[in-house]
Amino acid sequence: MNEHANPQTLSARADELEERMMHALGERIATKSVLFRMADGEIAMESGPALRAANPDKYFLMGADPRLPAMPKKPTLIDFFNNRFASLNHLLQSATLALKNGHSEKVVLACLLHDIGVAGFIRCDHGYWGAQMIEPYVDEEVSWAVRTHQALRFFPDASVGYEYPQMYIDNFGADYKPEPYIVREYERARNHKYYMTSRLICVNDIYSFDPNAKVNLDDFVDIVGRHFRQPEDGLGFDDSPSAHMWRTLMWPTRFL
Ligand SMILES: [Fe+2]
Ligand SMILES: [Fe+2]
Repeated sequence: MNEHANPQTLSARADELEERMMHALGERIATKSVLFRMADGEIAMESGPALRAANPDKYFLMGADPRLPAMPKKPTLIDFFNNRFASLNHLLQSATLALKNGHSEKVVLACLLHDIGVAGFIRCDHGYWGAQMIEPYVDEEVSWAVRTHQALRFFPDASVGYEYPQMYIDNFGADYKPEPYIVREYERARNHKYYMTSRLICVNDIYSFDPNAKVNLDDFVDIVGRHFRQPEDGLGFDDSPSAHMWRTLMWPTRFL
């Protein structure tokens, strides 16, 4: 149909587009960042002036999104577990297994945190994102291990009985080969002093996800308390090099 022949259609489409671009939340307008929209296969961003013109009585959201669980003024890591991470089961199962296998508290913490990149942020390169988030708050052994599990999980280590996961063959195809940057990361990691800590993340990673496993975050609160340097002002408000990542997770639809 010729759009010009039917201005109603054009206007309806514009309304629909606007609706997809933003959410009106009372007096505030919540917008989607470009990255969010890329996940739907489009590269687009709102025009601030156009949205304001269409909603002259509303300001953009510059803080908490009321559609998401409220965060306390001084959020802790546990608050992010409870209010921002989409799934705890895999993390808790891995940490529970590490505990059962008698590993050190550092290894247990690394297992507990190894996939927070996936649970709260983004899948692509999740080991790097997750490590960066926790780096200012944990022993470097823990963040190093979280970063490097991104690469190690693709490479077997017979000395600890770790084989290439069948789940990866099922998920990515038998012919999937890790990219050169992953191979280089693995080669660098092999002789590193913390190699085994990262390897133990892979060993205790649960590749067959059991949604009914009995796990409890409370079992790890003490270990987090002992090994995660919770900032006094709250994660996100402590001016650390990764504070902005925690704030973004807290306020993902903030306009700027
Ligand atoms: Fe992972
Ligand atoms: Fe994992």
